[in-house]
Amino acid sequence: MDLTGKNVVYLGGFGGIGQKACAQLLERQIKALAIFDLTLNEQLLAAWQAQYPNTDIFYQKVDITQKSEIEAAYKAAAERLGHFDVVVNGIGLMNDNFVELTIQINLLGLIQSSFIALEHMDKSKSGRGGVVINISSVAGIQPTPLMSVYSAAKHGVTAFTRGLGSAQFYEQTGVAFITVCPGFTDTPLLFDMMNKMTFKPRTTIDKHTHKVQSPEICASNLVKVIEQGKNGSVWLLELGEMKELDMPVMWRPTLQS
Ligand SMILES: NC(=O)c1ccc[n+]([C@@H]2O[C@H](COP(=O)([O-])OP(=O)(O)OC[C@H]3O[C@@H](n4cnc5c(N)ncnc54)[C@H](O)[C@@H]3O)[C@@H](O)[C@H]2O)c1
Repeated sequence: MDLTGKNVVYLGGFGGIGQKACAQLLERQIKALAIFDLTLNEQLLAAWQAQYPNTDIFYQKVDITQKSEIEAAYKAAAERLGHFDVVVNGIGLMNDNFVELTIQINLLGLIQSSFIALEHMDKSKSGRGGVVINISSVAGIQPTPLMSVYSAAKHGVTAFTRGLGSAQFYEQTGVAFITVCPGFTDTPLLFDMMNKMTFKPRTTIDKHTHKVQSPEICASNLVKVIEQGKNGSVWLLELGEMKELDMPVMWRPTLQS
């Protein structure tokens, strides 16, 4: 997709990866950027509005655990923009101390947001089609025992997004669903990792014991996925590289003869 002149909704646009991805999107001369997030970064918003006067950039407060807030934000953005071409579900929480919240924020909220986005974008209804990018994780393709709850939520994100990325749905809705799986990325999500794990590990684990990528390079590859990714594809964004994954087929239904 050529991003020039496109309307983009970014959920989590003021987060570590989100900020850098929004900055890259603005460089692509998009027409509008709606940022849905829990808190407003007033300074950053004002700086972007001054730097990109030809792009309509605005904020909608959303607590992703509240379906009514997600619906209200999409409704307000739709009234202002008319339609969306790209939605990025980039909100996340990594803290296995909070089991329900981890599932609510990473999985349930993302599912609700995807369905509401689809209502607006589905070309078989009143939409024009487009792309929904759901941010999963390496923990969404490989179980990570240190973060078992987060990993379960992210596996859910990968499964849900691949499900909606079926060719059959795409033909009907014109909305492509793409899964993005970043590896460790240097953002606030990784702060205080030792105290956020499923069980307290015996040895220290933090961003200094593992190689991490910068949020800039992760965001740059994320934007390339929006431009190049096909419906149903799954992308690994690890240590500055991007790679489309060939997902194994573990089971197929047996049809009645
Ligand atoms: N940083 C990493 O190592 C890493 C690795 C793999 C995947 N990811 C995923 O990338 C995405 C972005 O993460 P990040 O590293 O930029 O994290 P971050 O903590 O910097 O940003 C998280 C964003 O989510 C928002 N958020 C949190 N709770 C919310 C709520 N209840 N309602 C609305 N917004 C809420 C925050 O305001 C923030 O904008 C997440 O989905 C995360 O799981 C991150």
